[in-house]
Amino acid sequence: MDLTRRGFLVGSGGLAAAGALGAARSDKPAVAALDPNLMAFFSDVHQHDGKAHWPDWPYTQANAVFPELVAEVMRLRPLPANAVVFGDFSTSFGWEEDFRLAAAALKPLTDAGVALTLTMGNHDNRAAFMRVFPDYSARCLVPGRIVSKVSTPNADLIMLDTLKSRDGKDWAEPTDEGSHVEGTIDAAQRKWLRETLSSATRPVFVGAHHRAQEVGIVPELVAAPTVYGYIFGHEHIWADGFLHDGYANSRTVQTATLPSGGFWGDIGYALFRTFPDRAELTVRQTDFWFNRRWMEKPRPKNWRERARMHDGNKVVFWYDKPSNFYRG
Ligand SMILES: [Fe+2]
Repeated sequence: MDLTRRGFLVGSGGLAAAGALGAARSDKPAVAALDPNLMAFFSDVHQHDGKAHWPDWPYTQANAVFPELVAEVMRLRPLPANAVVFGDFSTSFGWEEDFRLAAAALKPLTDAGVALTLTMGNHDNRAAFMRVFPDYSARCLVPGRIVSKVSTPNADLIMLDTLKSRDGKDWAEPTDEGSHVEGTIDAAQRKWLRETLSSATRPVFVGAHHRAQEVGIVPELVAAPTVYGYIFGHEHIWADGFLHDGYANSRTVQTATLPSGGFWGDIGYALFRTFPDRAELTVRQTDFWFNRRWMEKPRPKNWRERARMHDGNKVVFWYDKPSNFYRG
């Protein structure tokens, strides 16, 4: 069976899928089980509707790549109960049409009952996002910001909104003036983060589009007793790292940078699995971005190598953050 087709059948509860899953005698459509401890992480999917805006943009592979990645996740059994997008839905300007493409790509997951948690990247626009995902406003924990929290049996994930508003117009319409590359969080979001982390009693992971250093939240994350990981996108290359509060101190927070779900750099997604004593983030790299203009030509050896360089890499986040007993 064609794998994409199979993904569609499971998502739509088709009879063929029902038989394949051994549920043919049931009148109910086949429903894949959801694993509450498993999440699929996507970032930088950079969808682009060239019919509406910027038709001469030549790098539109992302429109095909992102649905292929979703289809691969849809073949997991059980399915992840949650899928998270770490921002940069849009190619560049946050046009509403780009968000609609992203929503269409995610639809097999939502049709299967997978819950979405979303946040903004520097190429996004909050007003356009809200028109495509209107129900999301009820989940925003900080007014005017796409900040949300998802709980699993073993840990919580807090998603911050690091989109730097243009000219202070938080919900302004997208323009073709380009967007800020750098990220930030405002005073209200920082206050909410500090209060939330100070009262947390179970393992917490924090996610956002930008690096913690750039947003200026390293002290908050390192000092919080139950923050065990910070996961972000923006750079389009899988990487692991850590945050610390000084070279003489032992207290650190493990970090991971996600691949891109469509355009430039490492192409892929990551699976985040939580356990009672740790969490693991494993990257699935399906490709390394290749300019469409070069598609018909042989790939240089280094590019072929890069296409699988990070596939299967894993970061482990132990829930082990004692007081800073090595402080110098
Ligand atoms: Fe990006």
